[in-house]
Amino acid sequence: MGLSGADSVAYAQTLLTVLGPAAGRPLSLAPEPSFLSDDHTPVEFSLAFVPDADPTLRVLLEPGYGAGSLAENGRVGLRVIREMAQRWGFGTARLDELEDLFFPAEPEGPLALWCALELLPGGVPRAKVYLNPAASGQERSAETVREALRRLGHDRAFAALPEADRPLFFALDLGDWEEPRVKVYLVHQDLSATEAAGLSRVTGGPGRSEIKRFFRTAAGHDADGIAYPDVPLDRRPGLSCHAFTESRTGRPSGFTLHIPVRDYARHDGEALDRAVAVLRRHGMDPAPLRRALSAATSRRLQDGVGLIAYLGLVHQQGRPPRMNAYISSEAYQVRPPLAQAVPGRLG
Ligand code: TRP
Repeated sequence: MGLSGADSVAYAQTLLTVLGPAAGRPLSLAPEPSFLSDDHTPVEFSLAFVPDADPTLRVLLEPGYGAGSLAENGRVGLRVIREMAQRWGFGTARLDELEDLFFPAEPEGPLALWCALELLPGGVPRAKVYLNPAASGQERSAETVREALRRLGHDRAFAALPEADRPLFFALDLGDWEEPRVKVYLVHQDLSATEAAGLSRVTGGPGRSEIKRFFRTAAGHDADGIAYPDVPLDRRPGLSCHAFTESRTGRPSGFTLHIPVRDYARHDGEALDRAVAVLRRHGMDPAPLRRALSAATSRRLQDGVGLIAYLGLVHQQGRPPRMNAYISSEAYQVRPPLAQAVPGRLG
C-alpha cells in the first residue's frame, strides 16, 4: 500500500505486540473462538479508499484472543489499549469513562474489545476501539448505547438513530484524529435496498439512489444481467454505522452501509468484480485492492468465498463517498465456493 520498508517492519512488529501470545500460537492448533472473522483468525485487514489519493491500510485485531474467558479477553484488551496510549502518547479518558458499561464482571458475547489501527506512513498508527453493547446482556444493549453516548456528551444522539434489530458495536477513535468519532453500528435483519436508502440520519446526507445502487451492486442484485427485485438480505444481515463528531446538532455527521458480500456471492472473483464496480463508479482506482488480495492469499479468487468479507460505502458530511473493503486473513480456513448464484430468495 505504498508504506516504506521501515514503516512496514515497524507495523509488523506492532501487530505482533498487540496480539501478544496469540501471535506465537501455531496454526496447527484449532482456533480459539472469535467473532472477528468467520474462520476465527483474530486479524482482519481493510482498505479505505478515497478519490484521488492512495487508500489507507487498516487492521482489526483482537488483543485478548485466546485469553480463556470473555472477562479476561476484555482485561487484556484494555491493558493493550492503555499500553499503546502510553507508547504513542494519546489519552484514553473517553474509554475510561465507559469501562463499567462495557466491562461488567460477567460479560456476555460476542466480543469484549477489538482494536483497529490505521497504518499511516510514518510508523504511528491511528487507533480505534470496538466495544460490545451487549456486554451486560442483549436486553440492555440499547440502554448501554444510550448511556455511553450521554457520558461522551452526545445526549441527543441515541434518539437520532434509525430503527434497527440491535446495536452491534460501540466504537471510539482514540489519539490524533482531526475529528474523533463515536460510532454506533446497528444490525438490520432482512434489509432491502429501499430500506437501506432510508437509514442515514446525516443532514444533507447521501442520496438515496446512491445507497440503493451500492446495495444492489454489492449484494449481487444486478448480477448476471438479471435485475432482481428489491429482495432483502436474508442470510447475514446488513449493518449501518452512524458516526458522531459534534453534539451541537444531535445528528451524526457520518453514515456507512456495510454489506456482507461474502454471503451473497459464489466466490471471491465475483465479490471483487462488485468492489471494482463500486470503486470505478465513485472515481477510485481498484488496483490497490487487487494487490492487497494477492498479498493476503496465494489461492485463486474463484476457489473460495469470504476473502472479501464486507464492502462498506462511507459518507462523511461534506466529502465525496468512499468505499471500504474488508479482507480476511483466512489463516485457519477458506470457505469453499458455491456452485450457484445466490442473490437472495426470490419470494
Ligand atoms: N466478523 C463479524 C461480522 O462479520 C464482525 C466484523 C468484522 C465486521 N469485520 C467487520 C462487521 C467489518 C462489519 C464490518 O459481522
